[in-house]
Amino acid sequence: MRKVLIATQKPFAPAAVNQIKAVFEEANYDCSLFEKYATQEELIEAVGEAEALIVRSDKITPEVIDAAKNLKIVIRAGAGFDNVNLEASTANGVVVMNTPGQNSNAVAELALGMMVYMARNQFNGTSGTELSGKKLGIHAYGNVGKLVGKIASGFGMEIYAFDPFIPEEVITNDGVKVCKTVEELYSICDYISLHIPANEHTKQSINYDLLLKMKDNATLVNTARKEVIHEDDMLRIFKEKNKFKYVSDIAPDNADILKEEFGERCFFTPKKMGAQTAEANINAGVAAARQIIGFFENGDETFKVN
Ligand code: 3PG
Repeated sequence: MRKVLIATQKPFAPAAVNQIKAVFEEANYDCSLFEKYATQEELIEAVGEAEALIVRSDKITPEVIDAAKNLKIVIRAGAGFDNVNLEASTANGVVVMNTPGQNSNAVAELALGMMVYMARNQFNGTSGTELSGKKLGIHAYGNVGKLVGKIASGFGMEIYAFDPFIPEEVITNDGVKVCKTVEELYSICDYISLHIPANEHTKQSINYDLLLKMKDNATLVNTARKEVIHEDDMLRIFKEKNKFKYVSDIAPDNADILKEEFGERCFFTPKKMGAQTAEANINAGVAAARQIIGFFENGDETFKVN
């Protein structure tokens, strides 16, 4: 019997776990659950027997790969795979996949929810503003960016996008205007919604020069990764633009300073909440289970990222 371990520090919704287990039961796979672990050492100990892992933002370091002697495949149930060490995986013959698109709607809904929350001054009783008629800039037009545009158009926002990797007509076909440069996007929009991955090209790329281009009363919405922000530069921008707002799904390392000095202009979720819905957990978790079975039974490597 193939051994699968679901190793999720931040657990899937119970309904998702039940559905994932049912998929493996039908395939006659042995699936066990390892949730809410406290340390990386516990994870390293738990992976010993696993031939397949399903993870979320769990850190799959070279030490984890090394400890999992039977491991053949890791599925990141979600989009971003910056938490999985691809070099160590490849070196050990381990296939890594993600489940693109499966949790996108949940993240997109949160991005719009965060915009409303900031436009209404965190519901503090004072008069806020509306999204209707405002310009939204979507930085990277992938699965999440596209859905953010779709939902935002229902709010009556005017939508722009910058994504050098997506053909222009794909964006314009959705009624979204294309910006030729990232600087143009940042300078014309009232809201910028970030959907770039965290990698060697994007880490700390949202820096002073780019943030300076934003309107003085603009709002930056980050449901991507905290690592893409240059945090010292962000602090500087907060000091220089006294109406600038930043809302992020997961706190930056300098969250305490930002909250203390500019509390009304920033908000950070205590845990990454974007994909934390029952629907997203079910979609991503069941897709992960099916991808594992497809890999072992048919050699299917669709969505391999290494
Ligand atoms: C993703 O990359 O899919 C999202 O950031 C969700 O991450 P999570 O599964 O850790 O909530």
